[in-house]
Amino acid sequence: MVVDSGKRALVVGATGSVGGLAAEALRARGAATALAGRNRERLVQRAELMGGCPYRRFEAYDLASCAGLAPWARDVLGGLDVVVVAVGAAGFSVARDVPEEVSEHLLTVNAQAPMAVVRGALRVLSTGSAVSVVTGAIVDRPMLETADYAASKTALATWLAVVGRETRRAGISVLDVRMPHLANGFAERPVMGHAPVLPAGLDPAEAVETHVIAPLMASLGAAAPR
Ligand SMILES: NC(=O)c1ccc[n+]([C@@H]2O[C@H](COP(=O)([O-])OP(=O)(O)OC[C@H]3O[C@@H](n4cnc5c(N)ncnc54)[C@H](OP(=O)(O)O)[C@@H]3O)[C@@H](O)[C@H]2O)c1
Repeated sequence: MVVDSGKRALVVGATGSVGGLAAEALRARGAATALAGRNRERLVQRAELMGGCPYRRFEAYDLASCAGLAPWARDVLGGLDVVVVAVGAAGFSVARDVPEEVSEHLLTVNAQAPMAVVRGALRVLSTGSAVSVVTGAIVDRPMLETADYAASKTALATWLAVVGRETRRAGISVLDVRMPHLANGFAERPVMGHAPVLPAGLDPAEAVETHVIAPLMASLGAAAPR
């Protein structure tokens, strides 16, 4: 499928595996794409790989900067139709041993920052647009030693569910991507602890197509074959 020519997309977390793949996939479908990420080197590299597209740095703890990303993208792209949010960090431990700063980190990066990005987006998106936010399969199947990580993702999922109901009448789709475990090393770079035994990870590119891009295309009503 192709996105109608003229569609404009913002990918937040474009320096990561899922965000990077989503950005490439949207560009391949004809969307003008703007990127947001934290790591400057990876952000510049990704923007260059994508033909010199606009990019902006942000930090999850600066919630005002998160909320400002969609208005920025709207300005640089001349409008905005799609927002993908793929920001996140994992952390593993029995709840008793999680330091408060780690709990705060997980709640901020996995819940508050994506919420701020989406809140900013809702102020500039109009009918026919879509927001896709990666939560995770953990919302449906929380495991031992993931209480704070699972809570952060579940908070985000609940928030998205309410927002989706609020925006339906305005014609803005809000998609909650309960991404399964991927073979991209995400669970091996937690801010704390070690991942529990997990099933074999899915191929990241295939999973992004299935869980992020296909639902987005459906919600945008894209019709033409790729
Ligand atoms: N991979 C999986 O198995 C899996 C499964 C289910 C759900 N998910 C979810 O999918 C999303 C993307 O994961 P991924 O696999 O693409 O992981 P990833 O490659 O580690 O990407 C994580 C992204 O989050 C950004 N980020 C982390 N901390 C940040 C902070 N303090 N401020 C701003 N940005 C920050 C990173 O930015 P920088 O790189 O610029 O630092 C990067 O863009 C996450 O929400 C994750 O929970 C992943």
